[in-house]
Amino acid sequence: MSARVAPANSPPLGLVSPFLLAAPFGLVAAGALLAAAGSDTFAAINVPHTVAITHALVLGWVTTLMMGALYQLGAAVIGGRLLSERLARFQVVLHIGAVALFTWSVAGWRTGLMPAAGGLVVLSFALFAANVAHALLTSANHSLPRLGAGLALSWLGIAGGIGLTFALALNQAWFPITQGRLAAHAHAGLAGWLAMTLLGVSYQLVPMFNVITKAKPFHGGAVLAGTCAAIALFAIVMAFDPPWPVRLAAAMLLAAGPTAWAVDIVRLLRSRSKRRLDIQGRATIVSTAFLGATIVVGLLAAIGEPVAPAGEPTRLLLAYGILGIGGWMGCAMVGNSFKILPFLLWYHRYRPRVGTAPVPVVGDIYSEAVATASLASLAGAVAWLAVSALAGSLTGLHAGGMLLAGSGLIHFAGMAHTFLPKTSSRDVPSRVPVVHS
Ligand code: HEM
Repeated sequence: MSARVAPANSPPLGLVSPFLLAAPFGLVAAGALLAAAGSDTFAAINVPHTVAITHALVLGWVTTLMMGALYQLGAAVIGGRLLSERLARFQVVLHIGAVALFTWSVAGWRTGLMPAAGGLVVLSFALFAANVAHALLTSANHSLPRLGAGLALSWLGIAGGIGLTFALALNQAWFPITQGRLAAHAHAGLAGWLAMTLLGVSYQLVPMFNVITKAKPFHGGAVLAGTCAAIALFAIVMAFDPPWPVRLAAAMLLAAGPTAWAVDIVRLLRSRSKRRLDIQGRATIVSTAFLGATIVVGLLAAIGEPVAPAGEPTRLLLAYGILGIGGWMGCAMVGNSFKILPFLLWYHRYRPRVGTAPVPVVGDIYSEAVATASLASLAGAVAWLAVSALAGSLTGLHAGGMLLAGSGLIHFAGMAHTFLPKTSSRDVPSRVPVVHS
C-alpha cells in the first residue's frame, strides 16, 4: 500500500538540510576512529573504541540521515503535520552535540559522563519522535511507510531506553552487560529502528523513484509486522545468552522478514518502467546485495566460535556490523539523500519560477558523478573493511577507516554541491501544462 504523495506539505529546506549536511561527518568521525583502532579490536566486540565507532556510525551518520529523511517523508509522503518546525530546528543542534559528546565519552570509557551524554541523546530521540509521531497520527492514509515509521519510532524508544540503562549500569555497577544483553540492545537499534524505517519507506520510495506502476509490494504489511515480532523475540531470547543452536534459530527468524523484503524489492525493480537506473535505483541494488552478505555473516556470527575464522568470533561480529550498517543501511541512505535534498531544493527554490523561466529539473540539481563516487567509495570501503575484519587484519581496518572517512567527505561534497545555482538541462523553457478544451 503506497501513500498519496503531497509535495505541498514539504517542510522548509532549512529544517531538513542540516541533518543531511551534518550526517556525513558521522561517517568521517567513524572512519577516523577506525583508522586509529588498537590491537584489542579483535579481542572483543565491546572494547570502548569499537563501541565509539559503532555509535558514530549508527547515531552520528545513519540515524541523522534517517531523521532528516523522516521529517521530509512524514510530511510530504505520509501526509501528516509535524508538531513543530521550531522544535525540529532545535533538535538537530541538540542531536549533533549530544552524539558528539556521547561518542567522546564512550571512546574514553568515561562512565561518569556517559549517563548524562546518553540522556541528551535520548532527549533528542524523544523530541524527534514526538514531532514525527504527530505527523504519522495526523495523516489520513494507511500506507506501508506510515506503518514502518510508526513501528521504527517505538523501537527507537526501546533502543534508547536500554542504551541509557546500560550507561547507568556501567556508572553504578548495577549488572554486568553480557554479550547477549548487548545483542538485545544492538538489534533493538539496528533492526528495530534503522531496518524497520528502511523497510517501510522503501515500499514507497523504490516504486516512486524507479517508476514502478504495475507491480505492487507482496504482503508488505505482513513483512513489517512479522519482522517487528521477530526482533522482539530475538531481543528477549538473546538477553538470556542462550547456546548457539537457539541463537541460530532466533537469527534465522530475524532474517526471514528482510529476506522476503529483499526478494520483493528485486521483483519490483525488475518491473520498472524507467530502464536507466539513477543513483537511487543503483544504491537500492548495492544495498540489497549487502543485505544478502549481512544475513550470511550474521548467521555465522550467531553460531560463533565453531565457524569463526581462526576461532575468533569478534571477526564475524565486526564484519556483520560493517556490512549491515555501512553496506545495507548506509548505501540505501546515501542513494535516497541524493533524491531528498535535490527535490526539496527544487521545490522551494525553482518550482515558484516554473512557467516563467527555464528551470532545472530535479536531476539537474545534483551531480550524478559525485553521487556515483559517493556510493562507489562507500561500497568499496565497506567491502574492504568486511574482508579485513574476516581476515583479522588491523592494517586493513586502518586503511578501510581512511576510505570510509574519504567517502563521508565525498558525500558531504555531493550534498553541499546541490546548493550551487543550477541551470536547466532542457532547451525549451519549462511550462505548466496547459489543458485545451
Ligand atoms: C538507536 C540507536 C542505537 C543503536 C543502533 C545502538 C547500537 C549499539 C551496538 C551495535 C552496540 C554494540 C557495540 C559494540 O559492541 O561494539 C551498542 C552498545 C552500547 N550502546 Fe548503543 N545503540 C543505540 C543507541 C544508544 C544510546 C542512545 C545509548 C545511551 C543512551 C547507547 C548506549 C550503549 C552502551 C553503553 C553500549 C555498550 C555496552 C557495553 O559494551 O558494555 N546506545 N549499541
